[in-house]
Amino acid sequence: MTTLWSGRFDTAPNAQVLEWGSSFSVDRRLFQDDVTGSRAWARALGRAGVLSAVEARQIDEALEDILRKGLADPALVTGSDEDVHSFVERLLVERLGDTGRRLHTGRSRNEQVSVDLRLYLRRRVPVLLEAVRQVIAALARQASMAGDALMPAFTHFRPAQPVLAAHYFLSHAAPLRRDAGRLAAARADADALPLGSGAIAGTSYAIDVRELADDLGFSRVVSNSIDASSDRDFAAAFLFACSLTMVHLSRLSEDLIILCGDEYRFFELSDAISTGSSMMPQKKNPDPLELVRGKTGRAIGQLMALLTTLKGLPSGYNKDLQEDKHAVFDAEDTLAGCLTVVSAVIDGLTLNRARMAQASSGLLLATDAADYLVGRGVPFRRAHEIVGALVRKLVNEGRELTSLTPEDWRAASEFFAPDVVARVTAAASVAAKRTPQSTAPPAVRAALTEMEQWLESERGSR
Ligand code: ARG
Repeated sequence: MTTLWSGRFDTAPNAQVLEWGSSFSVDRRLFQDDVTGSRAWARALGRAGVLSAVEARQIDEALEDILRKGLADPALVTGSDEDVHSFVERLLVERLGDTGRRLHTGRSRNEQVSVDLRLYLRRRVPVLLEAVRQVIAALARQASMAGDALMPAFTHFRPAQPVLAAHYFLSHAAPLRRDAGRLAAARADADALPLGSGAIAGTSYAIDVRELADDLGFSRVVSNSIDASSDRDFAAAFLFACSLTMVHLSRLSEDLIILCGDEYRFFELSDAISTGSSMMPQKKNPDPLELVRGKTGRAIGQLMALLTTLKGLPSGYNKDLQEDKHAVFDAEDTLAGCLTVVSAVIDGLTLNRARMAQASSGLLLATDAADYLVGRGVPFRRAHEIVGALVRKLVNEGRELTSLTPEDWRAASEFFAPDVVARVTAAASVAAKRTPQSTAPPAVRAALTEMEQWLESERGSR
């Protein structure tokens, strides 16, 4: 293996140990970003007068060619190099000799790996954001198609109150939208130029870091070279955003596994994303959703791995930090795959409206009966008791609230007038809600419109 630091040592490195410590198989994914950063560094050295204009141009052109060839054939990005930085520099020196050997002037791999990962996240987070947007769009389409379909909402996983199915679909879109905000914030964290920090103390060459930041499209420059050499907050923020997005996808998956299951059958999964059993011919299994739920542990694991790596580090760069990239790439891949699968699952859902309607009626209208009494002047606590007693009786008799005649109601309380029969229905319950975040049909329509507008504005924004 060729290294960038052999001069200091008497003996050749232990090949096994060196290979074990190599990060090239993982950080080759930063190839494009490493070349981008190095080209800008060469230009900055040229502007600072460290490289002649001719040298700076030669390096820039050689790196451009290396990049073009590496992107055209990724198999070329390989070798026994210690890491991607060593690889790119080796190729450059093979082409330009001593001119190539001038590129690393005033620069350290400590800042190079930081700038690479920052550039990487800057270009990759938008891809994830678009995938999150696709899941939200699929949920919004289901909300739109659901129209006035009703379903029970759950607390303690017991049917609680009727809601519009559209309200339910939007309830899963809301956290994903916050996730998009967190992913964008992690990208903003990464948006600072670390170059100019040197190995730890800064650089002795007159690099205009503001100009270099502009050249690379960074909106700001880091504030402290010691901090910059070991700051991976942006990577941790990214992993947290990925983890929480996965948590939300996992909860959605869990809901769908249950609500598409034989006990509920509110929704039907499309055959295209379902799987069968090798033994039981009747089975239609939600494997993709189970995998999303399962892979969530993996994304959370990567966040824990990085935080644990960071917690004991002394000040400045330490090689432990090399572990960051595996965590970032694995979490990114895991999330990207899950987002694609969940979009397809949502798009393939069909609603079993009859079952949903049936499950929305019955004893879960008890709160509406109590609210009716409140409307007649009964204190809520009294109303709760009256309806509670009525529910107890109905449960014993195996009956539902909707089976009560006006006389039955009146027997429970003199305040129940005949209009209670029409007031205690699932549709009336939903229509009675008053707040903007509620399941009232006009509120849900407004929420859906607002979500669609957000989706549209996000579409253009990247
Ligand atoms: N491969 C290293 C990493 O990923 C690059 C930085 C190496 N710096 C050093 N001083 N050895 O962290």
